[in-house]
Amino acid sequence: MLFGVPVLEDLPSVDGRSVLVRCDFNVPLRDGEIADDHRIRAALPTLEWLTSRGAKVTAVTHLGRPKGTPDPAFDVAPVRRRLAELAPGVTLGENLRFSPGETANDPDFVDELMAGHDLYVNDAFGASHRAHASIVGPPSRVPSAAGLLLAREVEVLLGLRSHPRRPFVAITGGAKVSDKLGVIRALLGVADQILIGGGMCFTFFAALGHSVGSSLLEPDRIDDCKALLDEFGDRLVLPSDVVAMGPGGKIGDPEAGGEVRNMGRSVPDGWMGLDIGPGSAAEFADHVLEASTVLWNGPMGVFEDPRFEAGTRSVAQAVADCRGFTVIGGGDSAAAIAQFGFEDQVDHISTGGGASLELIERGDLPGVEALRRAPNAVEADESDEFNE
Ligand code: 3PG
Repeated sequence: MLFGVPVLEDLPSVDGRSVLVRCDFNVPLRDGEIADDHRIRAALPTLEWLTSRGAKVTAVTHLGRPKGTPDPAFDVAPVRRRLAELAPGVTLGENLRFSPGETANDPDFVDELMAGHDLYVNDAFGASHRAHASIVGPPSRVPSAAGLLLAREVEVLLGLRSHPRRPFVAITGGAKVSDKLGVIRALLGVADQILIGGGMCFTFFAALGHSVGSSLLEPDRIDDCKALLDEFGDRLVLPSDVVAMGPGGKIGDPEAGGEVRNMGRSVPDGWMGLDIGPGSAAEFADHVLEASTVLWNGPMGVFEDPRFEAGTRSVAQAVADCRGFTVIGGGDSAAAIAQFGFEDQVDHISTGGGASLELIERGDLPGVEALRRAPNAVEADESDEFNE
């Protein structure tokens, strides 16, 4: 058991049993082909663990966001082909979201899904923040467990919340401060320092009375940022400079013109801050290099545009060089670390975007809570008070 969650070893013997494995094979498709099979490869250890012990394995996944009815654009056939190459013998069910019962968490759909299956494994970390039928339903019916991928995510992310090595430095970025306020509040309970970059820093700048020009701003969050700065200002580190683009410029199109300039925190009218500046990048890198634990979630700027990638690159480099335990939240920061080629130099890259944020923020996920209530978990809980 791991934080009260049953793991594969907590299942009864899988030999000769039929196991339903919920995976997150929501892979990007281009012209009907898989553009990146990372999510399929990430589930292979769990599938191999089960098949090598004699289990008959059926994998299920959602793909995209079809509206509860079959839609050829979201056919899982390309995933099925790739899975057949990587995990021969494992069958793949139809796209779960072709049925309205999946997102509605309909108990009849759970019964349909589990018909003929003896055991259930959730390895779909990236979808475990959804209280959907295939995520929360099966553990109430059959012995269940977290797969190896899900278990590792829970171990790392809940481990950060409960016993990080110090100093613990968190870096948050990304466009919208409204998406990150919850996670910042949760991290303030455990991290020694929180470095704030990305588009979200401009709402903090506005809270300090700076002009932000045309930079991203969420006016209705200024008071929240001000309250955080008033209470925790000594542990929140804001950039001291930014890279901004002048009038006429276009993001992603250097040819369109528009001046690009380093400046302090005040951004004049018509200018848009799009990256942290070189001074801040160096300062952030220093904090990261001194940390024993690092969690990075959200880019420092619009790193897809080479004019605004330097801040994110510096942070990525520092995370790669840091000798402490380094964790990257899913989504954009995972894409950034891959773009800069540092993937192999971090300890853990989460496979979930929304799921990793929610697990850090709330300390739990619907899919993880459901596993904790599985019959085999409850029995173990009653018989073993030291089960963690
Ligand atoms: C993801 O890609 O983030 C997960 O597969 C969840 O997908 P969803 O946001 O459509 O639920």
